[in-house]
Amino acid sequence: MVIAKSSVKDLVIIADSVPESVPTKISDFMNILVTGGAGFIGSHLCRQLLKQGHYVICLDNFFTGSIENIKDLRANPNFELIRHDIVDTIHIECDQIYNLACPASPVHYQRDPIKTIKTSTYAMVNMLELALQTRARILQTSTSEIYGDPLEHPQKESYLGHVNCIGPRSSYDEGKRVAESLMMAYHKEKGVDIRIARLFNTYGPNLAMNDGRVVSNFIIQALRGQNITVYGSGSQTRSFCYISDMIEALIKLMNKDSLFILCVMGEWRKLLTRTLTLMLELICLKFSIFLTGIFLFMPLSFSFPYS
Ligand SMILES: NC(=O)c1ccc[n+]([C@@H]2O[C@H](COP(=O)([O-])OP(=O)(O)OC[C@H]3O[C@@H](n4cnc5c(N)ncnc54)[C@H](O)[C@@H]3O)[C@@H](O)[C@H]2O)c1
Repeated sequence: MVIAKSSVKDLVIIADSVPESVPTKISDFMNILVTGGAGFIGSHLCRQLLKQGHYVICLDNFFTGSIENIKDLRANPNFELIRHDIVDTIHIECDQIYNLACPASPVHYQRDPIKTIKTSTYAMVNMLELALQTRARILQTSTSEIYGDPLEHPQKESYLGHVNCIGPRSSYDEGKRVAESLMMAYHKEKGVDIRIARLFNTYGPNLAMNDGRVVSNFIIQALRGQNITVYGSGSQTRSFCYISDMIEALIKLMNKDSLFILCVMGEWRKLLTRTLTLMLELICLKFSIFLTGIFLFMPLSFSFPYS
Protein backbone atom coordinates (compact mmCIF):
# COMPACT_ATOMS: atom_id res chain seq x y z
CA MET A 1 0.00 0.00 0.00
CA VAL A 2 1.49 3.35 -0.96
CA ILE A 3 0.32 6.88 -0.52
CA ALA A 4 -2.15 7.39 -3.35
CA LYS A 5 -0.74 9.21 -6.34
CA SER A 6 -3.37 11.65 -7.43
CA SER A 7 -4.00 11.80 -11.11
CA VAL A 8 -4.20 14.77 -13.36
CA LYS A 9 -7.64 13.68 -14.55
CA ASP A 10 -8.89 14.61 -11.07
CA LEU A 11 -8.19 18.24 -11.78
CA VAL A 12 -11.23 20.41 -11.74
CA ILE A 13 -11.10 23.36 -14.04
CA ILE A 14 -13.74 25.99 -14.40
CA ALA A 15 -14.30 27.71 -17.67
CA ASP A 16 -16.11 30.79 -16.46
CA SER A 17 -17.12 33.67 -18.64
CA VAL A 18 -13.72 35.27 -18.82
CA PRO A 19 -12.73 38.54 -20.50
CA GLU A 20 -10.33 38.44 -23.45
CA SER A 21 -6.62 38.34 -22.60
CA VAL A 22 -3.98 40.23 -24.51
CA PRO A 23 -2.60 37.53 -26.86
CA THR A 24 0.55 36.01 -25.41
CA LYS A 25 3.48 34.30 -27.07
CA ILE A 26 3.18 30.51 -26.85
CA SER A 27 5.64 28.36 -28.78
CA ASP A 28 7.63 25.15 -28.47
CA PHE A 29 10.74 26.97 -27.25
CA MET A 30 10.17 29.80 -24.83
CA ASN A 31 12.03 31.89 -22.27
CA ILE A 32 10.35 30.84 -19.05
CA LEU A 33 10.79 32.56 -15.72
CA VAL A 34 10.29 30.41 -12.62
CA THR A 35 10.27 32.42 -9.40
CA GLY A 36 11.01 30.26 -6.38
CA GLY A 37 12.77 27.90 -8.80
CA ALA A 38 15.21 26.62 -6.18
CA GLY A 39 12.40 25.44 -3.91
CA PHE A 40 10.74 22.03 -3.71
CA ILE A 41 8.17 22.39 -6.51
CA GLY A 42 10.13 25.03 -8.45
CA SER A 43 13.20 22.82 -8.88
CA HIS A 44 11.10 19.98 -10.35
CA LEU A 45 9.33 22.47 -12.61
CA CYS A 46 12.64 23.93 -13.91
CA ARG A 47 13.90 20.40 -14.61
CA GLN A 48 10.77 19.46 -16.57
CA LEU A 49 10.71 22.71 -18.58
CA LEU A 50 14.37 22.21 -19.52
CA LYS A 51 13.54 18.65 -20.64
CA GLN A 52 10.89 20.15 -22.90
CA GLY A 53 13.58 22.30 -24.54
CA HIS A 54 12.76 25.70 -23.04
CA TYR A 55 15.22 28.32 -21.76
CA VAL A 56 14.60 28.54 -18.00
CA ILE A 57 15.42 31.49 -15.77
CA CYS A 58 15.27 30.45 -12.14
CA LEU A 59 14.90 33.34 -9.76
CA ASP A 60 15.19 32.78 -6.02
CA ASN A 61 16.23 34.55 -2.81
CA PHE A 62 17.01 31.21 -1.10
CA PHE A 63 14.75 31.94 1.88
CA THR A 64 13.68 28.29 1.88
CA GLY A 65 15.13 27.10 -1.42
CA SER A 66 18.49 25.44 -1.83
CA ILE A 67 21.28 25.25 -4.41
CA GLU A 68 21.28 21.51 -3.74
CA ASN A 69 17.80 21.24 -5.37
CA ILE A 70 19.08 22.65 -8.68
CA LYS A 71 22.75 21.68 -8.70
CA ASP A 72 22.23 19.16 -11.54
CA LEU A 73 20.74 21.94 -13.71
CA ARG A 74 23.51 24.51 -13.41
CA ALA A 75 25.67 23.09 -16.18
CA ASN A 76 22.77 23.20 -18.62
CA PRO A 77 23.31 26.12 -21.08
CA ASN A 78 19.53 26.67 -21.17
CA PHE A 79 19.42 27.26 -17.41
CA GLU A 80 20.09 30.60 -15.77
CA LEU A 81 20.05 31.23 -12.03
CA ILE A 82 19.44 34.71 -10.62
CA ARG A 83 19.58 35.39 -6.90
CA HIS A 84 16.92 38.02 -6.39
CA ASP A 85 14.11 38.87 -4.01
CA ILE A 86 10.95 39.51 -6.03
CA VAL A 87 9.70 42.00 -3.45
CA ASP A 88 12.12 44.24 -5.38
CA THR A 89 11.36 44.96 -9.02
CA ILE A 90 13.27 43.27 -11.83
CA HIS A 91 13.02 43.27 -15.62
CA ILE A 92 13.55 40.00 -17.47
CA GLU A 93 12.46 39.28 -21.03
CA CYS A 94 10.26 36.20 -20.87
CA ASP A 95 7.29 34.49 -22.53
CA GLN A 96 5.84 32.77 -19.47
CA ILE A 97 6.11 33.34 -15.73
CA TYR A 98 5.47 30.65 -13.14
CA ASN A 99 5.22 32.56 -9.87
CA LEU A 100 6.10 30.09 -7.12
CA ALA A 101 8.20 32.31 -4.85
CA CYS A 102 6.71 32.11 -1.36
CA PRO A 103 7.47 29.85 1.58
CA ALA A 104 4.82 27.09 1.62
CA SER A 105 5.26 25.48 5.00
CA PRO A 106 3.68 27.06 8.12
CA VAL A 107 7.00 26.74 9.96
CA HIS A 108 8.65 28.96 7.36
CA TYR A 109 5.92 31.44 6.48
CA GLN A 110 5.22 32.12 10.15
CA ARG A 111 8.90 32.93 10.74
CA ASP A 112 8.51 36.37 9.16
CA PRO A 113 4.80 37.08 8.56
CA ILE A 114 5.41 40.62 7.26
CA LYS A 115 7.80 39.30 4.63
CA THR A 116 5.29 36.58 3.74
CA ILE A 117 2.60 39.21 3.12
CA LYS A 118 5.00 41.34 1.06
CA THR A 119 5.93 38.31 -1.05
CA SER A 120 2.27 37.69 -1.92
CA THR A 121 1.38 41.35 -2.48
CA TYR A 122 4.27 43.70 -3.45
CA ALA A 123 6.01 40.87 -5.29
CA MET A 124 2.79 39.78 -6.98
CA VAL A 125 2.37 43.32 -8.34
CA ASN A 126 6.00 43.22 -9.55
CA MET A 127 5.44 39.96 -11.40
CA LEU A 128 2.14 41.15 -12.90
CA GLU A 129 3.79 44.38 -14.09
CA LEU A 130 6.52 42.26 -15.64
CA ALA A 131 3.89 40.09 -17.35
CA LEU A 132 2.22 43.25 -18.64
CA GLN A 133 5.48 44.72 -20.00
CA THR A 134 6.68 41.52 -21.65
CA ARG A 135 3.21 40.21 -22.62
CA ALA A 136 4.02 36.98 -20.83
CA ARG A 137 1.36 34.59 -19.56
CA ILE A 138 1.60 34.31 -15.78
CA LEU A 139 0.66 31.40 -13.53
CA GLN A 140 0.29 31.97 -9.81
CA THR A 141 0.65 29.04 -7.41
CA SER A 142 -2.08 29.70 -4.91
CA THR A 143 -3.09 27.31 -2.19
CA SER A 144 -5.85 25.33 -0.52
CA GLU A 145 -5.14 27.62 2.45
CA ILE A 146 -7.13 30.38 0.78
CA TYR A 147 -10.13 28.33 2.04
CA GLY A 148 -8.86 28.72 5.62
CA ASP A 149 -10.55 26.15 7.89
CA PRO A 150 -13.16 25.17 5.28
CA LEU A 151 -16.77 24.40 6.06
CA GLU A 152 -17.33 22.67 2.71
CA HIS A 153 -15.78 19.40 1.49
CA PRO A 154 -14.37 18.84 -1.00
CA GLN A 155 -13.58 22.47 -1.75
CA LYS A 156 -14.54 23.61 -5.22
CA GLU A 157 -13.24 26.70 -6.99
CA SER A 158 -16.59 28.34 -6.27
CA TYR A 159 -16.25 27.92 -2.47
CA LEU A 160 -15.29 31.24 -0.88
CA GLY A 161 -13.57 29.99 2.25
CA HIS A 162 -13.62 30.47 5.99
CA VAL A 163 -10.51 32.39 6.90
CA ASN A 164 -9.30 33.97 10.12
CA CYS A 165 -7.69 37.22 8.99
CA ILE A 166 -5.78 37.72 12.26
CA GLY A 167 -4.83 34.11 13.05
CA PRO A 168 -1.29 32.67 12.91
CA ARG A 169 -1.80 31.49 9.33
CA SER A 170 -3.24 34.78 8.11
CA SER A 171 -0.01 36.15 6.57
CA TYR A 172 -0.06 33.25 4.13
CA ASP A 173 -3.82 32.70 3.72
CA GLU A 174 -4.73 36.34 3.28
CA GLY A 175 -1.55 37.11 1.32
CA LYS A 176 -2.44 34.40 -1.20
CA ARG A 177 -6.04 35.66 -1.36
CA VAL A 178 -4.81 39.16 -2.19
CA ALA A 179 -2.46 37.64 -4.78
CA GLU A 180 -5.45 35.99 -6.49
CA SER A 181 -7.37 39.30 -6.35
CA LEU A 182 -4.39 41.08 -7.94
CA MET A 183 -4.24 38.45 -10.67
CA MET A 184 -7.93 38.98 -11.48
CA ALA A 185 -7.58 42.78 -11.32
CA TYR A 186 -4.66 42.80 -13.78
CA HIS A 187 -6.57 40.40 -16.00
CA LYS A 188 -9.77 42.44 -16.04
CA GLU A 189 -8.24 45.90 -16.18
CA LYS A 190 -5.14 45.32 -18.30
CA GLY A 191 -5.83 42.04 -20.10
CA VAL A 192 -2.90 40.17 -18.55
CA ASP A 193 -3.12 36.49 -19.49
CA ILE A 194 -3.37 34.67 -16.16
CA ARG A 195 -3.66 31.19 -14.66
CA ILE A 196 -4.29 30.47 -10.99
CA ALA A 197 -3.56 27.05 -9.53
CA ARG A 198 -4.74 26.27 -6.01
CA LEU A 199 -2.32 23.62 -4.83
CA PHE A 200 -3.02 21.15 -2.06
CA ASN A 201 -0.32 19.25 -0.10
CA THR A 202 2.38 18.17 -2.52
CA TYR A 203 4.97 15.56 -1.62
CA GLY A 204 7.93 13.81 -3.23
CA PRO A 205 11.72 14.00 -3.57
CA ASN A 206 13.38 17.27 -2.43
CA LEU A 207 10.63 18.04 0.08
CA ALA A 208 12.62 19.85 2.79
CA MET A 209 13.42 17.75 5.86
CA ASN A 210 12.32 20.65 8.04
CA ASP A 211 9.12 21.25 6.06
CA GLY A 212 7.07 20.59 9.19
CA ARG A 213 4.04 19.05 7.48
CA VAL A 214 2.67 15.60 8.00
CA VAL A 215 4.35 13.59 5.20
CA SER A 216 7.91 14.79 5.88
CA ASN A 217 7.35 14.75 9.66
CA PHE A 218 6.27 11.10 9.65
CA ILE A 219 9.07 9.96 7.35
CA ILE A 220 11.83 11.84 9.17
CA GLN A 221 10.63 10.75 12.60
CA ALA A 222 10.37 7.12 11.43
CA LEU A 223 13.87 7.16 9.92
CA ARG A 224 15.31 8.74 13.07
CA GLY A 225 13.61 6.20 15.30
CA GLN A 226 11.66 8.96 17.04
CA ASN A 227 8.07 8.96 18.23
CA ILE A 228 5.64 9.79 15.40
CA THR A 229 3.69 12.91 16.32
CA VAL A 230 -0.02 12.90 15.54
CA TYR A 231 -1.80 16.17 16.30
CA GLY A 232 -5.31 15.77 17.73
CA SER A 233 -7.10 12.43 17.35
CA GLY A 234 -5.75 11.85 13.85
CA SER A 235 -9.21 12.28 12.38
CA GLN A 236 -8.32 15.50 10.54
CA THR A 237 -7.91 15.08 6.78
CA ARG A 238 -5.53 16.31 4.10
CA SER A 239 -5.56 16.02 0.33
CA PHE A 240 -2.26 15.03 -1.33
CA CYS A 241 -0.70 15.29 -4.77
CA TYR A 242 2.52 13.63 -5.91
CA ILE A 243 5.12 16.05 -7.30
CA SER A 244 5.28 14.62 -10.84
CA ASP A 245 1.48 14.90 -11.15
CA MET A 246 1.65 18.46 -9.83
CA ILE A 247 4.31 19.46 -12.37
CA GLU A 248 2.34 17.90 -15.22
CA ALA A 249 -0.80 19.71 -14.05
CA LEU A 250 0.92 23.10 -13.71
CA ILE A 251 2.41 22.89 -17.20
CA LYS A 252 -0.93 21.77 -18.66
CA LEU A 253 -2.78 24.60 -16.95
CA MET A 254 -0.22 27.14 -18.16
CA ASN A 255 -0.52 25.98 -21.75
CA LYS A 256 -4.29 25.52 -21.91
CA ASP A 257 -5.99 28.12 -24.00
CA SER A 258 -7.65 31.15 -22.66
CA LEU A 259 -10.85 30.02 -20.94
CA PHE A 260 -9.03 28.18 -18.22
CA ILE A 261 -8.14 30.46 -15.39
CA LEU A 262 -8.56 28.81 -12.06
CA CYS A 263 -8.07 25.27 -11.02
CA VAL A 264 -7.87 23.26 -7.84
CA MET A 265 -4.96 20.81 -7.83
CA GLY A 266 -5.36 18.06 -5.35
CA GLU A 267 -6.83 14.67 -4.75
CA TRP A 268 -10.54 14.57 -3.96
CA ARG A 269 -10.04 11.51 -1.83
CA LYS A 270 -8.77 12.87 1.44
CA LEU A 271 -6.61 10.88 3.79
CA LEU A 272 -7.11 10.79 7.51
CA THR A 273 -3.94 11.36 9.49
CA ARG A 274 -4.84 8.02 11.10
CA THR A 275 -4.75 6.36 7.66
CA LEU A 276 -1.33 7.86 7.07
CA THR A 277 -0.02 6.34 10.28
CA LEU A 278 -1.23 2.94 9.10
CA MET A 279 0.42 3.47 5.71
CA LEU A 280 3.65 4.41 7.42
CA GLU A 281 3.56 1.16 9.40
CA LEU A 282 2.97 -0.85 6.22
CA ILE A 283 5.72 0.94 4.27
CA CYS A 284 8.18 0.37 7.11
CA LEU A 285 7.21 -3.29 7.17
CA LYS A 286 7.70 -3.64 3.41
CA PHE A 287 11.15 -2.02 3.48
CA SER A 288 12.18 -3.69 6.75
CA ILE A 289 12.46 -0.38 8.59
CA PHE A 290 11.78 -0.89 12.28
CA LEU A 291 9.60 1.74 13.84
CA THR A 292 11.26 2.18 17.21
CA GLY A 293 9.09 5.10 18.32
CA ILE A 294 5.43 5.12 19.24
CA PHE A 295 2.59 7.23 17.82
CA LEU A 296 2.48 10.20 20.15
CA PHE A 297 -0.84 12.07 20.19
CA MET A 298 -0.42 15.81 20.82
CA PRO A 299 -3.11 18.47 21.23
CA LEU A 300 -4.30 20.04 17.98
CA SER A 301 -3.40 23.72 17.79
CA PHE A 302 -6.39 26.00 17.13
CA SER A 303 -4.77 27.29 13.94
CA PHE A 304 -4.72 23.82 12.37
CA PRO A 305 -7.33 23.47 9.62
CA TYR A 306 -9.38 20.36 10.39
CA SER A 307 -9.39 19.40 6.72
N1 LIG B 1 4.27 22.39 -1.32
C1 LIG B 1 2.95 22.42 -1.18
O1 LIG B 1 2.33 21.45 -0.72
C2 LIG B 1 2.18 23.66 -1.59
C3 LIG B 1 0.80 23.71 -1.32
C4 LIG B 1 0.10 24.84 -1.67
C5 LIG B 1 0.73 25.88 -2.33
N2 LIG B 1 2.06 25.82 -2.58
C6 LIG B 1 2.70 26.97 -3.24
O2 LIG B 1 3.61 26.53 -4.22
C7 LIG B 1 4.75 27.39 -4.25
C8 LIG B 1 6.02 26.58 -4.10
O3 LIG B 1 5.95 25.85 -2.89
P1 LIG B 1 7.15 24.91 -2.41
O4 LIG B 1 6.57 23.79 -1.66
O5 LIG B 1 8.07 24.64 -3.54
O6 LIG B 1 7.84 25.88 -1.36
P2 LIG B 1 9.39 26.14 -1.08
O7 LIG B 1 9.46 26.90 0.19
O8 LIG B 1 10.16 24.88 -1.20
O9 LIG B 1 9.78 27.06 -2.32
C9 LIG B 1 9.53 28.44 -2.36
C10 LIG B 1 10.73 29.08 -3.03
O10 LIG B 1 10.51 30.50 -3.12
C11 LIG B 1 11.69 31.18 -2.71
N3 LIG B 1 11.26 32.50 -2.23
C12 LIG B 1 10.48 32.78 -1.16
N4 LIG B 1 10.27 34.11 -1.07
C13 LIG B 1 10.91 34.67 -2.12
C14 LIG B 1 11.08 36.01 -2.57
N5 LIG B 1 10.52 37.03 -1.91
N6 LIG B 1 11.83 36.23 -3.67
C15 LIG B 1 12.42 35.20 -4.34
N7 LIG B 1 12.29 33.92 -3.96
C16 LIG B 1 11.55 33.65 -2.86
C17 LIG B 1 12.29 30.30 -1.63
O11 LIG B 1 13.65 30.53 -1.39
C18 LIG B 1 12.02 28.90 -2.22
O12 LIG B 1 13.05 28.52 -3.08
C19 LIG B 1 4.54 28.43 -3.15
O13 LIG B 1 4.03 29.61 -3.72
C20 LIG B 1 3.50 27.79 -2.26
O14 LIG B 1 2.71 28.75 -1.60
C21 LIG B 1 2.80 24.74 -2.23
